[in-house]
Amino acid sequence: MEDKLRALGDEARQAIQQADDKQQLEQVRIKYLGRQGHLRQIMQSIGDLPAQQRPVVGQLANQVSRELERLLAQRATELEAAATETDKGARKIDVTLPGRGPRVGKQHPLMATLEEMIDIFLGLGFVVAEGPEVENYYYSFEALNYPEFHPAMDEQMTFYITDDVLLRSQTSPVQIRVMEQQPPPVRIVAPGRCFRRDTVDATHCHTFYQLEGLLVDEGVTFADLKGTLEIFAHEMFGPECHMRFRPDFFPFTEPSAEIALTCIICGGEGCRVCSGTGWLEVGGSGMVDPNVLAKVGYDTEKYTGWAFGVGVERFAMLRYGIDDIRLFYSGDMRFLEQF
Ligand code: DAH
Repeated sequence: MEDKLRALGDEARQAIQQADDKQQLEQVRIKYLGRQGHLRQIMQSIGDLPAQQRPVVGQLANQVSRELERLLAQRATELEAAATETDKGARKIDVTLPGRGPRVGKQHPLMATLEEMIDIFLGLGFVVAEGPEVENYYYSFEALNYPEFHPAMDEQMTFYITDDVLLRSQTSPVQIRVMEQQPPPVRIVAPGRCFRRDTVDATHCHTFYQLEGLLVDEGVTFADLKGTLEIFAHEMFGPECHMRFRPDFFPFTEPSAEIALTCIICGGEGCRVCSGTGWLEVGGSGMVDPNVLAKVGYDTEKYTGWAFGVGVERFAMLRYGIDDIRLFYSGDMRFLEQF
């Protein structure tokens, strides 16, 4: 009888362990511990045993019964936990599936364009300078020779934090900060983010990047400006790309010129993108106004200089054939993954 009990215990233990769900487990419980279960049958037949065997077998039967109850409860908890996991969506693991590789990030197309632009100027002997995005009135306008009432200083155009502190609307303030810190010669490019109260559309954004350039030395002429920017255009878009200068006005340059590039889309033939003109405007430039040089204490009899400022988004749009500036700032992976 004792052997039979032990064998039954072993069998039941195995069955409990092998039960894969609650129903199976319940079947096992009924089979061994149920009212008509194996263990119950043995217990009922204890009375037929010789008197001295009864307590020994009875005790063993109780022990097996308690153990099986405990194992059943334990297995039920295990199955419960496993079921919750499955509910959470953790499907059964297929170990033959290839592992998930880490997602590798890459450079944003705007930054890639900016770096390429900077690289060209580094090759020409320029160095990179930076200034703050939160600027004050002096560097933003006053030192740049803005007249007292200029539309660029208007609240409609510029984000003000206080009357004196604002989000820079151009990278030109960096010119002043650099010149204040060093005597000529100066040969810098200043990349950076700018902000304007523009209504967002396919070609405007409240936040955008510019690349500023400044060269100050003895005997610098407008020809140097044209030559340098022409090299830049060739390096960027190939020898077919030319630069056009047309008279313009900026308070900090005299004379000033608008810069346009041969429309890369149509090769200068005239198309929708360039409104049939064959040219695309990319920024402004000019000879640094002597008033600006004087503000930073440079000898205006000895030194002349030129400067330019171009929109980086414009270059990136041309480089990749993108027709909507908002895509750069959308954070849309479907767009970004293409580069
Ligand atoms: N800062 C001007 C703008 O945002 C662009 C510009 C024009 C920069 C002429 C210059 C310059 O350095 O010489 O419209």
